Amino acid sequence: MILVIGGIKGGAGKSTVAANLAVRRVADGGEVLLVDGEGATRFSEL
Ligand SMILES: Nc1ncnc2c1ncn2[C@@H]1O[C@H](COP(=O)(O)OP(=O)(O)OP(=O)(O)O)[C@@H](O)[C@H]1O
Ligand SMILES: [Mg+2]
Repeated sequence: MILVIGGIKGGAGKSTVAANLAVRRVADGGEVLLVDGEGATRFSEL
């Protein structure tokens, strides 16, 4: 499954939603590759 979370507005919570979905998926035993197209984001800091 490839899931894209996008939008024009900055600071709307896109990275936060992506990180939470990824954590949930891993907690359920899945494998996740989390990529933020906006290079400055560090998911480990969310
Ligand atoms: N549901 C929420 N309620 C309150 N604060 C939130 C919520 N979701 C995100 N935030 C806060 O809003 C800020 C911006 O969130 P985030 O970085 O996820 O947005 P973004 O859309 O990825 O921004 P950017 O366009 O800069 O990449 C962060 O400080 C985050 O903690
Ligand atoms: Mg972001």
